[in-house]
Formats: sequence, structure tokens, C-alpha cells
Amino acid sequence: MAQAENITRQFKTIKVCLSHRWPVLLNPGEIGAVLREFIRRYCSMMGSTATLIVTMVALGIIARSHATPPRSVESFITAVEQVEEPDFIRSLIGHRVTGAGEEEGVVLTEDGATVALAPLLLGVEAGLLAEEGGTPLSSLYPLALARTLGLSFLRSRASPPLGPGGCWDNVTSPLTFTLAGTPSLATDALINGGIDGVVLGAKLSGHSPKWPLQLSALLRRYYQQHLWGRGLDSAPRLISPRRRENFRKLVSPALLQEQVLGSLALYRHLIGDPGMAEGAETEAAVTEGVELFVRTYLDCPPIIPRCQWGAEPYRGTPTQLVLPLAFLYVHHTAVPSQPCVSFQQCANDMRAMQRFHQDVRGWDDIGYSFVVGSDGYVYEGRGWHWRGAHTKGHNSLGYGVSIIGNYTASLPSGPALELLHDRLTACAVGGERLVANYTVHGHRQLVDTTCPGDAFFSEIKGWKHFGEVKP
Ligand SMILES: *[C@@H]1O[C@H](CO)[C@@H](O)[C@H](O)[C@H]1NC(C)=O
Ligand SMILES: *[C@@H]1O[C@H](CO)[C@@H](O)[C@H](O)[C@H]1NC(C)=O
Ligand SMILES: *[C@@H]1O[C@H](CO)[C@@H](O)[C@H](O)[C@H]1NC(C)=O
Repeated sequence: MAQAENITRQFKTIKVCLSHRWPVLLNPGEIGAVLREFIRRYCSMMGSTATLIVTMVALGIIARSHATPPRSVESFITAVEQVEEPDFIRSLIGHRVTGAGEEEGVVLTEDGATVALAPLLLGVEAGLLAEEGGTPLSSLYPLALARTLGLSFLRSRASPPLGPGGCWDNVTSPLTFTLAGTPSLATDALINGGIDGVVLGAKLSGHSPKWPLQLSALLRRYYQQHLWGRGLDSAPRLISPRRRENFRKLVSPALLQEQVLGSLALYRHLIGDPGMAEGAETEAAVTEGVELFVRTYLDCPPIIPRCQWGAEPYRGTPTQLVLPLAFLYVHHTAVPSQPCVSFQQCANDMRAMQRFHQDVRGWDDIGYSFVVGSDGYVYEGRGWHWRGAHTKGHNSLGYGVSIIGNYTASLPSGPALELLHDRLTACAVGGERLVANYTVHGHRQLVDTTCPGDAFFSEIKGWKHFGEVKP
């Protein structure tokens, strides 16, 4: 009972927290009208992070209206179904991919990531239960992520084992999220939601019950952190752009593997055959799957695809690169001269650079292969497969990657450097897009330019893969 009361209290605080911004009197009978009104007025300003919060508010109201508060997310959902507007709320929480490849039950968060709500809520709930009941944290992982991964690995013969991501129809007013390819059982949004569930669940469970965290405040800090100055350098640790970094610290590949196998055994016990007999074959599929998960989601940086920053199409016919490449060419943008620290700002900078490269320079597309923001994300330019226009005379030999900002007199932020130096390169080598002994050059070593700026160039001279140009 104490557990359920605690959950109710936590959810209630969300409403209290929001009410000073948006004072509405909520009671269960009015929920449909109120939510509609809330979304009409609030979500159009805030993007769909607000939808997430609205969902939480709805859950809080429903929990409060029950004589015995529901004890699990499943029973929350059942309770939700008994009030007005069940379709609306079900469509927010229930995860589903339609025949047309639209993914439901996901929201666009302010940092530009797409997150499925169901695994996020499961993780949060598990964290709250552990906080009250002293449940060991390791038993929480299956809820949020491991089962999804396990089932997807076992069924991967029929469909890809992981992903894909996708794109919203409109990022300022997002309604429909369409996947970029054949869906697996573990889409990027389910994985993001699962990771956030594990990270937030761990935070909640590690907290002293004497000083309960306000779930509302935690969610707002996590999803609505506003960065400034040099971006992540001065930001708190527990924010959504850092989800992969936080997850890497919490969960080793060995622990994840153990959890996936454990959750499959549980599934077999409770529900039935998940698609492959127990034993060596399952173990091999899980080992391979966890390796792929680590390579794709933990080694790689999060990459915002072209459709999500609002790219114009390539003009003409792109030339395919012959992979793996041997070089990485480092640039700064110089213009924009300021680092970008939010999804909106970085996306805007990407569109401005693409316009300049296409309309003023007369190129087919934005020149760079990838561009690194100071918001925790890498932005896709021409991507892994198409030749760029970044380093005259060398575009077929290497990737051109730029960090947004002017780094003549100062360095990029530590996290932006790490995205390029550690994550993007590990990702490229792991995916066999760069050779393992690739060479890093600054743009100025090959072309008469000051790029990537004096300060940044001094920095990359110290990188392990930096090379002088061979005559
Ligand atoms: C996105 O939606 C907003 C608000 O409805 C609208 O003003 C804008 O033109 C839309 N953008 C695109 C690219 O459709
Ligand atoms: C970049 O910064 C340097 C030094 O602060 C300055 O001299 C230069 O004009 C800047 N470049 C651009 C394109 O703003
Ligand atoms: C990288 O490794 C390949 C094959 O092992 C070798 O042929 C090549 O010379 C190496 N390149 C550099 C820059 O060390």
C-alpha cells in the first residue's frame, strides 16, 4: 500500500508542478475536455515533450481518483481505459507500428530525440517501487529494455534485429512519426525510452526515501534542460542528450547480456516460446545481438537524420563512396561562429549552411559528411555513403566532419570534442566505414585555409590518429 501511495504522490506532484504554469482544475470527469484544451494551448508552444507531461498528469489524476490506486503501469492503463477519451490516452502510451510504417506511442522530446513512452514509464515505475521496497536494481532492467531486445534478437531472421529510427512530419508541430525502414521489435524510439527508463529508474531507486524526488521536477530537468554558452560543458549529468553516456556507466555489456537472457527465460516461463528454443542457439543470438546493440547505440553518437533537421534534397546524383575510407578531415564551420546548444538552433544552423552551400556555392548539398553540435548530437550531412564537398581534392578519400563554431581562439566544448574524437570514429571503425588505422588531418593541411581554427588545430595535433601529410 505504501508503494502505491508513493506512486500516487509522485504523479500528483506533476500536476501541482504544472499548475502554476497552466492553472486548470482537473477532475476525472473532465479529463477529456481538459486534456484537449491543454494540448491545444500548451503543446503547440512546447512541442511534444508537453505531451509526455500531459500523459503523466493524466496518470496522476486517474491514480488519485481510485479508491485503491493502481499498482502497475498495466493497471494504470486499464484504469485510463475506463475514463473518457480512452483512445486518445491509449494512443499516447500504447506502442504500435501501423501497416504504413507509422510508429505510435512515441513523443518528440525537446532535444530532438524520439522516445517511446511505455518503456520509459515502466522504468520510472520500477525505480519508484525499488525506492520504496528495496528491490535490487538489477531486477528492473528486464522491464525497461532487456525483454524488448531479447525478443527482437530472436526474431531477427524475419526482420532486422534493431531499429530503425524515423522522422516526424513536422518538428514544430509533430503529429506523425514514420519509420525509415522495416521495423524490428526494438525500434530506436523503444530503445531510447528503455534507456531513459533505466537511467531515470536508477536515479529514483537510488534516492533516499526520506527525501523523495519530485518526479515532475526530475522529468522536466531531464527532458527540458536548457543549455547555454558552450553547451554540455556546464550542464548537469542527468539530461536526455546524455542518455547513452549515462547508460554506458550504469550497464556493462555483460550485465545487459545476462538481463536479456534472464528476461527471455522469464518470458518462456510466463508466456511461452519466444521464437527459439533455449540453449546454445538462443545464447549465440543474444551474444550477437548485444554486440550489435553496443556498436549501434553505445559506441555510436546519437545522429540526427537529415529529414529531422529539415534538409532540402540532394541536387543531382550523388557519388557513392568506396568503404572503408582511410581519412577523417576535421573542420570548423567558422560561420556560424557560435556553438549551437539546442536542437532547434543546431537544425537551424544546418539549414542555413545547406542553403549557403547549395545556393551561393552552387554545390549539390551541404558539403560536410557530418556536423557536430554542442547540444550532444551529431547531425547527418551527406552521411556515411555519399561523397562530400569538404576538402578539395580529397573528398573521395575521407569523411569531412565539422564542429559548429569558430575555433580560432578557443576550443570546442569537451563533450563536442568527445563526440567527434571518441564516438563518431569508434562508430565509423565499428561499422567498417573507416579503416582501424585511419588518419586524421585538419582541413588546413590539404587546402589553403585557416580551418579548423588555430586552437582546434593545435588540439587535434595531439590526437592519436593525427598524421602529417605524406608528400
Ligand atoms: C509545421 O507546422 C506549423 C504549425 O502548424 C506550420 O506553421 C509550419 O508551416 C509547418 N511546417 C512544415 C514544414 O510543414
Ligand atoms: C573567428 O575568430 C577569429 C578570432 O576571434 C576572428 O579573427 C575571425 O574573424 C573569426 N572568423 C569568422 C568567420 O567570424
Ligand atoms: C593501415 O593498415 C593497412 C593494412 O593493415 C596497411 O596496409 C596500411 O599501410 C596502414 N596505414 C597506415 C596509415 O598505417
